[in-house]
Amino acid sequence: MTNHIPSPSWLDDALEFCIVKTRHNLATLTDFPERTEGGQWIQIAPEQHGWWVGGHWVGLLWLAYAASGDPALSAAAHTWAGRLLPQLNDQSDHDLGFLFELGFVLGYRLTGDESLKPSALQAASILSRRFNPRGQFIQAWGSLDASPELRGRTIMDTMMNLDLLFWAAKETGNSYYAEIAAAHARTTLIHHLRADGSTSHVCDFDPETGAFIKQGTHQGLSATSCWSRGQAWGVYGFADCYRATGDPIFLNASRRLMVYLWPRLPADLVPFWDYDSPLIPNDVRDSSAASVLAAGLLSLAAVENDPNLASIWQNRAISILEALWKTYTSLKSGEACLLLHGTRSKPHNLMDHGLIYGDYYFVEALMRLSKPKLSL
Ligand code: GLY
Repeated sequence: MTNHIPSPSWLDDALEFCIVKTRHNLATLTDFPERTEGGQWIQIAPEQHGWWVGGHWVGLLWLAYAASGDPALSAAAHTWAGRLLPQLNDQSDHDLGFLFELGFVLGYRLTGDESLKPSALQAASILSRRFNPRGQFIQAWGSLDASPELRGRTIMDTMMNLDLLFWAAKETGNSYYAEIAAAHARTTLIHHLRADGSTSHVCDFDPETGAFIKQGTHQGLSATSCWSRGQAWGVYGFADCYRATGDPIFLNASRRLMVYLWPRLPADLVPFWDYDSPLIPNDVRDSSAASVLAAGLLSLAAVENDPNLASIWQNRAISILEALWKTYTSLKSGEACLLLHGTRSKPHNLMDHGLIYGDYYFVEALMRLSKPKLSL
C-alpha cells in the first residue's frame, strides 16, 4: 500500500548521475564488474560467466533503459544477459535467482520481450532441484553431491532467490515452485530469525534427516552476530514472500527485522558491516546493505497493509537514499562505481569499495520512487 509521497527534489539528478556512469561503464567494461579497487572495476574472469553478480550488471542496464528509453541500453542488456547463459550448465549454486531474475525476468517485465522467459524458467527448474524436502530448505552452496556440510547449509541471501520461483509458479501454473519457495522462507524464519529480530547469516542442518544443527556465519562477525547485508536481504526477501503468498507471517518477519535494525543504524543511516561489531563507530560501513535495505523497504511499503507503517517504510527508504546520494556516491571522486564504501566481506579482508550489487539496488530503489508504476 504505497502512499503518495512527493518525489524528493534530488531524485532526477541522482538517476541522471547513475545513467551517465552506467553508460560510461558499458563503454569500458569487457567482463562483468564485481567490486572496485583503486576506483576501477575488478572484472570477473570470463570463464565464471558473471559469477553470482552478473545479473546485477544486466539489471542495471535494464533499469538504465527503463529510465532513459534508449534502445541501445536494452540491446546492451540483451547482449550481456546472453553471457550469463552458460551458468545454466553449472548447477552448484543457489544464485540462479539473482542471475536470472535480474538478467532475464526484469528485462521481460520492462520490455515485454517473451524471448527472455525460457532461460529464466530453466533457471527456476534448476534452482528447484536444490530443495531438500527433509529439511524444507534450498541448499545454498555446492553441488547436490557435495559434502554433508555444504548440502546442509542455508544462508540469508537465498531469500532473494525465491522470487524467481514464485514467478515461475505463476508463469507455468506449477505450484511446486511456489510451495518450495514458501517452505524455504518458513525454514529461514524459524531458524535464522532470532527472538530480537536479528538474523544469522548461515544455518547448518543435517542433510539426511533435515534436523537443525546450529546458526553460523560466513561474511558476518560470528554465529551470534547480525551481518548487515544479510539482514537487508531478509527485509526485502520476506516482503517478496508476503507479496507472493499473502501469508502474514512473512510480512511480520520483514517488520521484525526492521524493528531490530532501525535503532542500530548510525546517524547517516548507512549500516556498519555487522550490527554487532565491537569496533563501532570506528568500523567500515556497507553501503550495499543500505541500498538493498532501501529497495527492500520500498517493496515492503508496497505490500504493507497498515497505512501508517507503509508511510514509515517509504520515508525511511527515502532517507537512506538521500544519505547515499549526498554522501556515498562517486559524484565528486569519479570512481567507476556509483556507491562508495561497500563491504563484500570483512572476514575475507574485502571492504571499503564499490560493489555492483550495491549499485544495482541503489538504482532499483531510485526507480521504484521515480516510476512507481513500473513492474520491478
Ligand atoms: N550473496 C552474497 C553476498 O551478499 O555477499
